Amino acid sequence: MHLVVTTSEARQTELGELYAHFIGGKRVRSDGEADLVRANPAASDEVLGRLRSADTDFVRSTVRIAAQAWPAWRNTSAPSRGKVLLEAARQMDQHREELAHLIALEEGKAVKDARAEVQRGINITEFMAGEGRRFGGYTSASESSTKFAFTTRQPLGVVACITPWNFPIAIPAWKIAPALVAGNSVILKPASATPGCAVRLAELYQQAGLPDGVLNVLAARGGPAAEALLDAEEVRAVSLTGSTGTGRHVAARCAARGVPVQAELGGKNAAIVLADADLDLAAAGIVDGAFGSTGQRCTATSRTIVVDSVADRLLDRIVDRARALKVGPGTEEDTDVGPAVTSEQRQTVLDYLDIGQREGAEAVYRGRVSVLQPGHWLAPTVLDRVRPEMRVAREEIFGPVLSLIRVPDADAAFEAANAVEYGLAASVYTRDVQAIFHFIDRVDVGIAHVNQPTLGGEVHLPFGGVKASGIGPHEQGRDAVDFFTKVKSVYVNHG
Ligand code: UN1
Repeated sequence: MHLVVTTSEARQTELGELYAHFIGGKRVRSDGEADLVRANPAASDEVLGRLRSADTDFVRSTVRIAAQAWPAWRNTSAPSRGKVLLEAARQMDQHREELAHLIALEEGKAVKDARAEVQRGINITEFMAGEGRRFGGYTSASESSTKFAFTTRQPLGVVACITPWNFPIAIPAWKIAPALVAGNSVILKPASATPGCAVRLAELYQQAGLPDGVLNVLAARGGPAAEALLDAEEVRAVSLTGSTGTGRHVAARCAARGVPVQAELGGKNAAIVLADADLDLAAAGIVDGAFGSTGQRCTATSRTIVVDSVADRLLDRIVDRARALKVGPGTEEDTDVGPAVTSEQRQTVLDYLDIGQREGAEAVYRGRVSVLQPGHWLAPTVLDRVRPEMRVAREEIFGPVLSLIRVPDADAAFEAANAVEYGLAASVYTRDVQAIFHFIDRVDVGIAHVNQPTLGGEVHLPFGGVKASGIGPHEQGRDAVDFFTKVKSVYVNHG
């Protein structure tokens, strides 16, 4: 008898095999009963993978392996390290469909969003590869004619990268690339919902020629294992993406040891629509920003602040576009909105819809979910008549929920945009050049967009937020390696 394995079952098996740690260049399973069991977000009665998460001893021994691998990597020239990254980018390119499907299956996002995510991972790795050739410091005039003065940059040692589930390839890629090109060993601790993607990424680095032990993946829940990683003496810097609460906790814990933290945290991003805006362009960008990736991204558009005179016309266009979105399994080509990552995440979003209703917001659009299989489905929802003081206007929801806030004019719009504790991204839709520059000057965020969605960014520029959205230097851009290095100023007296 033949065993007929459908493609999706095959993918599931493949993903199940990735449920391991990746240490010293190998998939490693820790002893003991599996305590990290990942259900398929689009078919919650199916298990995608299971593993025993790392305990504190396991974390400590992994850190030691990374520390042992470090000296040889540190002594590899920076351009040669860059070449490994360039090859890793090629590997990701060659495996782009495989990676996109892994993301869609494990995290749940629509495969078209997953493809864009893989491209992002490739872009950052390619960009950082070039940093290997640009690595170094600067020379400076000395006060003395017989002295030569310059700076040099050196790696830190072992660094920890703690990443969330919502970009399970791109965020690990953009943290480890600058860390590695700078000559550090890395412990990557992915979110417990998406360890498989992280392991696959590390394997592609290994195929690209990265020496064993330089990049290790530890699958662990938060709690003692994560704290052991933060407390390990060899760990010299921590780069984290997650919630504001987690970021502040990690920063405080690392401060006790004098270890620097780079934390990319929550957002409550506003798209501002002024009276002269191209409303079709605005509606398209807002719908993409609010509902793409199921709203589970820190740059999602969760608020639309619109000037009264065009609010109804904008809302009609938003609802028309939202109606066309199809909710379904991420792995299906025509899906626009995949499931929430977990049932807890879905419940949080549903709780916010109740909160919004109690606060007096009007749910003017609630999408349809016609998927039959049990999954963490969420319908795109538009809340109208939201006021800036409501919780749905201030707190990060992390789901496909858009709050519409009506204001009298541009000044009130800018004020409302800033009236939250977060400061990651914002956008404005207008053709008025004065309003554009007023927005750029006043909006208190790390990333400002004009006539485009609040989403994402390009790797060439820094990515990160202000206020409760970030701690420490931003990621990406030309200076991204700085966080992973220490500067030495050198004076040579040749007189
Ligand atoms: C993006 O929105 O394109 O966790 C990237 C997040 C962010 C990354 C967002 N750190 O959603």
